[in-house]
Amino acid sequence: MLKKIYGDIKSFLLFFPRLSLLFEKTQNYLLRRRNNQVPHVASNELKRVAEVLVSPGWNMNYGKGLMHEKLEEEFAAYVGTNYAVAVNTGGMALQMSLRALGVKPGDEVLHQVDTCMANPFAVMNAFATPILTDISGDTFMMDFNDAEKSISKNTKVIMPIHMWGNPCNMDKVQELADKHKLHVIEDSCLSLGAAWKGKKTGSMGNVGVFSLGCIKPIQAGEGGVITTNDAALAKELRTLRSWGEMTAEYGVRDHKELAWNGRMSEIVAAVGLEQLRGYSAQLEKKMEALELFKSYLTQREGIQIVDAGVNGVSSYGQVVLKLNAPALGLSKKELMHSMTENGVIHWHANFEPVNQLQFFTQGNWKKWITAGDLQKAESNFTRKFSNSERVYAEEGLGLNNSHFLSKKEVNELILKMDKILKKK
Ligand SMILES: Cc1ncc(COP(=O)(O)O)c(C=O)c1O
Repeated sequence: MLKKIYGDIKSFLLFFPRLSLLFEKTQNYLLRRRNNQVPHVASNELKRVAEVLVSPGWNMNYGKGLMHEKLEEEFAAYVGTNYAVAVNTGGMALQMSLRALGVKPGDEVLHQVDTCMANPFAVMNAFATPILTDISGDTFMMDFNDAEKSISKNTKVIMPIHMWGNPCNMDKVQELADKHKLHVIEDSCLSLGAAWKGKKTGSMGNVGVFSLGCIKPIQAGEGGVITTNDAALAKELRTLRSWGEMTAEYGVRDHKELAWNGRMSEIVAAVGLEQLRGYSAQLEKKMEALELFKSYLTQREGIQIVDAGVNGVSSYGQVVLKLNAPALGLSKKELMHSMTENGVIHWHANFEPVNQLQFFTQGNWKKWITAGDLQKAESNFTRKFSNSERVYAEEGLGLNNSHFLSKKEVNELILKMDKILKKK
């Protein structure tokens, strides 16, 4: 019934454009308020999706000037690169980047061990070998000394992962890349808006890779974007995302490279575009809320936020905490238990070390990695990663973004944390 009344009002207002706009704005505002959760409508998503649906351009191959092109233009401007290429997921963005950079079977790609399975799987789906590195106990991201020990003639790519919105030390990444002639793929799936020495993550490597999927800084249901300053690479990426068909970019109907369907739907592009437009305001609000939490934590011992340090700006895709159990008087396990009891949404800071998952422990990877230095791969997957293992078991804890949507949510979080920490 309500839906019908709502539909009738909307149709009636179509005759009064100004009133219709006001109605739409009110509707968006109410949606945002009702959806005080992550993800939520950040701007004019409804309007933009409707624009696609009333047009014939639902697929990115249906003409020019479509929604994904607007998203690409604004995404590149936001990140600070010359080009952005919209694709269907962050994982596909990683695979396509590896292919476009010329990575071949047997080539090795370095990334930290405690990350989403998307990283080793994307590397393997591009027929390359992931070589896992430990993390630093301070930043919870790639330990560059450890990474360098694994570099051999097969190493072609270094893939820093800006974990949960904290920027990696890109000076160190570039130093290693220059010294060993490596390509740099910045996995920025969790770090839209973060920066290192004033440059946004995703703008410093050969390519930056973003995801618009679940638990990402902006979300569109699914989606991915690749950023780059390299015109030839952008051209190749646009070809690879459409089964490598060369007409649009090279003017010949032909295929020269093994490729995928990596296209982004225009409907997804519409949501992504408006999410991006609303992102700066969201981020600002989150930073204000976070300041309250930071000042609360200064009164507590044994718990601190892991952030970017003086050279970086974090975008806090998740607020990462480092725990010191003896000083805190609680183990990570006990703290997580109390948080669950008190309704504080949390998770591990990083992911589990991927080499502890069945795919690696049971040797299933052997079915898929068949070229290159297999002995090196085996000893890499079975080695110890002391810092990552300790962070996962004892020190790292992540707080969900929903606690930092505004001052209201963070004040509730502080009350709950205070109760938990005082009761210990
Ligand atoms: C660090 C990281 N890289 C890549 C991905 C893959 O993104 P998608 O799920 O869009 O394929 C994820 C997804 O969670 C991620 O966390």
